[in-house]
This record gives sequence, structure tokens and C-alpha cells, in this order.
Amino acid sequence: MRLSILAGLVGLTLILSNSVLAEGAGVPYPEGYRNWFHVKTMLIQSGHPLENPFQGIHHIYANSNALEGLKTGAYQEDSVLVFDLLKYLEKDQTIQEGDRKLVGIMHKNTKRYSSTGGWGFEGFAGNSRTERLVNDGGVSCFACHSPEQKTDYVFSKIRK
Ligand code: HEC
Repeated sequence: MRLSILAGLVGLTLILSNSVLAEGAGVPYPEGYRNWFHVKTMLIQSGHPLENPFQGIHHIYANSNALEGLKTGAYQEDSVLVFDLLKYLEKDQTIQEGDRKLVGIMHKNTKRYSSTGGWGFEGFAGNSRTERLVNDGGVSCFACHSPEQKTDYVFSKIRK
């Protein structure tokens, strides 16, 4: 009798911790981000240390919650930053946007993502809103962002 209660409790604990993990993994797709504030754009060419997987033209967008953080370096809850990565093609002495490679996201939720600096990291493949690319809970993304502690792990700076 005692044993079955214990087994039940262990089972319940497992179910609870699994649901917390599942929730933690689910950084939402940033619907409408193309209407958000455009922070900056960069072209990463072949031979750059970030070439794999970030070679291409990326545009960075911030939602309204993230605007204050871009100025102060301290981001409020539900700040979202998007790294919109496109292929590029060189044509007639120009460099033009190609197909989308991925949409990278940082979503601030201090409690839910406490192990990765309070940010949920996720990537969606190409134009997909469901095909997720991050399978380590954002640990490898955060590893590279972690030196930017002074600006809440965000690299991009706002400009006029
Ligand atoms: C090897 C280093 C490195 C890794 C790994 C990395 N990033 Fe970044 N990330 C950067 C750099 C550098 C920038 C700034 C780019 C710029 O200035 O345009 C950046 C910018 C960003 C931004 C825009 C906000 C900011 O910090 O400027 C987002 C969103 C982002 N990364 C998401 C991710 C996600 C999601 C992952 C994991 C899939 C990831 N990053 C992995 C280096 C990295």
C-alpha cells in the first residue's frame, strides 16, 4: 500500500516536471515581426566564424517591449528579438536578398528560461512556423551570447 502511494507520487512528480519542460521549450513563433522595429542589418560572408549556420543577410527586429531594453540594456518581460536570416545572391554588382534560411528568436521570460539568462532561444527553419531548430533548450545559443551580460545577453545596439 505504502509502496503504491510512493510510486504514484514519483509518477506525478515526473508528469509535472515533464510538463514544465515542455512548456519551457515552447518559444512562440513571433507572429507579425516584419511590422516590428528594424534594429539593424548585417551581411555575413563565407569565411566568417559565424558562417555556419549564419552566412547570409540578417535583419534584426524588436517588438515594442524590447525597445526600452535596446536603450538601457535591461529588457522587460516578453521582450522579443528576431534574427531574420536570408540567403544572398551577387548579381549585377549588387548583393540581393535570397530565400529565408531561418528565423532566430530571443524571448524574455525570466522564470521560464532561468537557465539561459532569462531568454528563450529558438529557431524556425525557412518559412516554417512549426519546424523548430533548437534541440538543446537554447544552451548552445546562450553559450555564445553569454559574454554580453552587460546588455542582458543582447549583441545588437540601437542606432539613429
Ligand atoms: C557563435 C556565436 C553565436 C551563436 C552560437 C548564436 N548567436 Fe545569436 N547572435 C550572435 C551575434 C554576434 C549576434 C549579433 C549580430 C549583429 O550584430 O547583427 C547575434 C544576434 C542574435 C539575435 C538578435 C539580438 C542580439 O543579440 O543582437 C537573436 C534573436 C539571436 N542572435 C538568436 C540566436 C539563437 C536563437 C541562437 C541559437 C540557435 C543563436 N543566436 C546562436 C552570435 C551567436
